[in-house]
Parts: sequence; C-alpha cells; structure tokens
Amino acid sequence: MMTEEERIKEACRWLSQFKNIAILTGAGISKESGIPTFRGKDGMWKKYRVEEMATPYAFQQDPRKVWEWYDWRRQLIMKANPNPAHRTIAEMENIYPKFTVITQNVDGLHKRAGCKNLIELHGNIWRARCIDEERIFGFTEVPLRHIPPQCECGSLIRPDVVWFGEPMPKKEVAEAFTLAEECDVMMVVGTSALVAPAASLPYAAKKNHAYIIEVNLESTPITTIADVSLFGMAGEILPELWSNVKKELDNDKSE
Ligand code: OAD
Repeated sequence: MMTEEERIKEACRWLSQFKNIAILTGAGISKESGIPTFRGKDGMWKKYRVEEMATPYAFQQDPRKVWEWYDWRRQLIMKANPNPAHRTIAEMENIYPKFTVITQNVDGLHKRAGCKNLIELHGNIWRARCIDEERIFGFTEVPLRHIPPQCECGSLIRPDVVWFGEPMPKKEVAEAFTLAEECDVMMVVGTSALVAPAASLPYAAKKNHAYIIEVNLESTPITTIADVSLFGMAGEILPELWSNVKKELDNDKSE
C-alpha cells in the first residue's frame, strides 16, 4: 500500500512525462465554491433527489417545482466563484499540447476559470430553450421573476441541460470518448461516477492504457481501476499536485 506522498509522486511522474491529458469532472469540484453536490445528504433540495427533479416527467408534472429547484441552484451558482481546483486545471491547459476538460457540471465555472478546451456533457444552466420551438438562448435572469418562465410564443421555457431519460448530445459524447481513448492520463475529479455515459469514460481510457488518477473525498467505482486515488478536497489536492509537476517540468528543462 502506497503512502499519500508516494501516490502524489506517482501521479506527478505521469503528469510530467505525458502530453495528452483528459480531465473528467463532476459536482465535487464545485463543492468548495459553495455549490452543493447531487448525492449525499448535502445534495438534497427540500426532500427531493436529483433523479426525481431532473427528468422530463417531473417537468411535465410540475414545471414550477422543477424551476424552483433550478432557480435555487442558479442563485447559488451566480454567487459562486471558481475555486483553486478550477483554476489549477485552467493553468494546466496552458502547458500541455493536448488537454481537454470533460465536465458533467452545468455551472460554467471551468469556463469562468479560463478553460478553453471544454466539453459540457450535460449542458449549461445559463442556457434555456422553448419546449416547442427548440430554440436555444442565453437565459441569465436570477432570481426568476416569474416561475415557470414562458417563451414569447406562450410555451414553457426549460433549462438547456440534459435530464435523466433524455439523449445525450451526440457530438459531445463522441468527442469525449475519442479523447478518453487517445489520452495518456485521465484525471477524474469529484464525481461519484454513477451516471452514464460519463462514468464509462475512465474505463474507455483505461482500456487504451491511459493512467487514471482519481481525486475524491471518498472511494467510488473508479477507485478499483484507478492507478492512483488521492483522497481529499480537490481545491487542496490539485494545487499541491500541480506545484510538484511544475517543479518536475522545470527540472527537466534545466537538465
Ligand atoms: P455527485 O453529487 O453524484 O458526486 C459528487 C462527488 O464529489 C462525490 O463522489 C463526492 O465524494 C465528491 N466530492 C464532494 N466534495 C468534494 C471535494 N471538495 N473534492 C473532491 N471531491 C468531492 O455528482 P456527479 O458525479 O457530478 O446530472 O453527478 C453526476 C450527474 O448526476 C450530474 O451531472 C447531474 C446528476 O444527476 C444531471 O443532472 C443530468
């Protein structure tokens, strides 16, 4: 069993040796920005679970309730700022020839931290679309004056995010799998890895011989395939890991 120090060293070795890096993130990376995760008691809104709220059926049954949940999340996200984990990842992007962030988050914090190569698999909470016209538009009113909001055409507007039971955006998913298959190292940060297809990406990477580094507070299904799991807060682990990698890269340059 490796010590924490040895695990960091190992992760650091791969990140300084390889040039094609993919990062997969989930709600845990935004936790330290004050945005609750979905699972665990902390992620509950009133008494509802995400699987009951983020579905086309829930919206059809009670659009007001679903929008109240999104309004609550949008208010939290609006007040939030990228944390050291988002910022470290944005900094890493400047160093590697091939570097992409694949996120399940809809909060837009990676982009605000400066990430450019970003795949938002589940959409973005600041976009909405009319349920009839399928027109997608920016929708930033916070808090909402009228719930549920309506389109000019009279139909309801819904958040432009992927709900349970809905198809995923084809182009983004295909791109994410290609990146997973081609990368040398995949770092999996703050996801419970329970929701497909994002949860399959580390398996696709592993199958193609990438090293998997996991960063999470606790073990997940990915822990069993990870080459290294670093347990703790992403906002602390990522900056520490990255400062070690930078030292290593500087040493290599001066040799
Ligand atoms: P979850 O809420 O399922 O999992 C969050 C993960 O982050 C857990 O494994 C936590 O242990 C970990 N975590 C929490 N705080 C952390 C911290 N400070 N540092 C590191 N790790 C931390 O969130 P996701 O895996 O993102 O989709 O959930 C996947 C999808 O399920 C979401 O995109 C959303 C949800 O339903 C849709 O709404 C379609």
